[in-house]
Amino acid sequence: MSSRAALWSALIPGTLAVAFAGWLIACGSDSKAHPGDAGTNQEGGATDGGPEPTPEQQFRALEPELTAKCGGTNGVCHVIGSFSHAPTWLAKPDAYVSAKAYKGIIPVSGDTSDSILLTQAEHEGPSLQTSPDLFGKVRAWIEAEVGAKKLPETDPMSIIDGENTIDLTKLAPTLPGAKLTFLAQTNNDILTLTSIKIYSSPMGGLHIDSPFFVIVPKSGPVIADPVTNGFTGPLDLQKNTSQDFYSGNIILLKWASTSQLRVAFKAYGPLASSVDAGPSGACTNLTSFMTNAKPAFFSNTLTIPPDAGVAPGPGSCTSCHNGGDEVARNAMDLTTLGTDDTNACAQARNFINFSDKTKSTLVLNPQGLSNPGHPITTLMANDPIVVGLKQWVTDENP
Ligand code: HEC
Repeated sequence: MSSRAALWSALIPGTLAVAFAGWLIACGSDSKAHPGDAGTNQEGGATDGGPEPTPEQQFRALEPELTAKCGGTNGVCHVIGSFSHAPTWLAKPDAYVSAKAYKGIIPVSGDTSDSILLTQAEHEGPSLQTSPDLFGKVRAWIEAEVGAKKLPETDPMSIIDGENTIDLTKLAPTLPGAKLTFLAQTNNDILTLTSIKIYSSPMGGLHIDSPFFVIVPKSGPVIADPVTNGFTGPLDLQKNTSQDFYSGNIILLKWASTSQLRVAFKAYGPLASSVDAGPSGACTNLTSFMTNAKPAFFSNTLTIPPDAGVAPGPGSCTSCHNGGDEVARNAMDLTTLGTDDTNACAQARNFINFSDKTKSTLVLNPQGLSNPGHPITTLMANDPIVVGLKQWVTDENP
C-alpha cells in the first residue's frame, strides 16, 4: 500500500494527498478481507453434488467478502457512497438488487469479461483483480447471471486513423466475407467513425439487429453501452451487397489510442427472405432436382444426434429443414418440398457454389466439410444422399 500511497501523493497536489491517504484506508480492504475467509464454507456444498446454486445464492455467498473489499469502512465507499461520491452499487436495502441494476455490472454484451467489476483497475479503491479468489467467485456469479445471453460479437481490434475493416465472418461461418468498413478519426478521447458501411457475404443475405460498439480499454472498465454507442432496429441485406450502416456515423467517447473496439449485435445471422429467390433464383433443371435431390432430402437414413432441435433417431434432411427446426429452416427452407417443388428447389439452389460446384455447401455440409456446427456431419462421399445431391448440383446451371 505504501507504493500506492506514494503514487497518489505524486499525482495529487499536497492537501488532497492527505485526504486520499485517509481514504485509501477507508476504501481499500487491505488486510481485512483474506481471500478464502468467506469462501471456504461455501465450496464444500457445491462439490457435494447438491443442486446448482442460483445466481442469487452465489451472490449471497460472496456478498460479505465483496462488501468488505469494496464497501469500505462502514460502507462509505460503494454501499453509502459518502466517500468521494463513490457509486453505490452495493446500496442498501439489498446489495444484490443494487448490484444487478447497476449499469455495466451484468454486461449487456452478455460477455462476462466486460463486467465493470472485473475490468475495474486500481482506482480510488482496489481492483478486484488483487483478490484472485474473490475475483473468481464474482466472475462465476456474473457468468451465472448472464447465462446463455451472450450476444454475437467480433474480437476486439485496434483502430487506426483512416480506413478500417472489421471482418464479421466469425459471427456466422456460413456467411464468409461479411464485413464493416469505416473511416476513423481520433481527437483526444473522442473516436469518430464516418462512412460506416456493411457488406453482406457473397454466400448469402444478412439479417442483423441493434448493433453497438464496445470499447475495450487497455485496462479499466469495458464500455458496452448499446444506447449511446449503437443503433437500434433490424437491418437486412441481400447477398453480396453493401449499404450504409444505419446513419453511417457515430461518435464514441472515452476512447484512448490504446483502446480496442468490438461490435456486438442483438441478432446476427442469415437473412431468411434471401432464400425467397425471385425469378433469377429459379432452378434451371427442375427435372434433375426431382429425380436426384428430392429423394435425397427425404431419405430417412440419417441418424439425428441428441440436442439437435428435433427428436433424435432416424431422420432425413427434411426432418429439420422441412419445418422441424426453425434454425435449420432459416438457413435453408425446404418447407415447400413436396407441395411447391419449384420454390423448394430455388431455396436449395442458394447453397450451390456456381463458381466451383465442388465447394457447394449443400453437398459439403452433411459430410462435415463446411459448417462445423451443422448437426449432420458424418455422411460419406458415396452415401446415396450425397451422390443424389451432387448429381443435381452438377446438372444445375447458373
Ligand atoms: C438435425 C437437424 C438437421 C438435419 C437433419 C439437417 N440439417 Fe442442415 N441445418 C441444420 C441447422 C440447424 C442449420 C443451420 C446451421 C447454422 O446456422 O449454423 C442447417 C443448415 C444447413 C445448410 C445451410 C448452410 C449452413 O450451414 O447454414 C445446408 C446447405 C444444409 N443445412 C444442408 C443439409 C442437408 C443436405 C441435410 C441432409 C443430408 C441436412 N442439412 C440435414 C439442421 C439440420
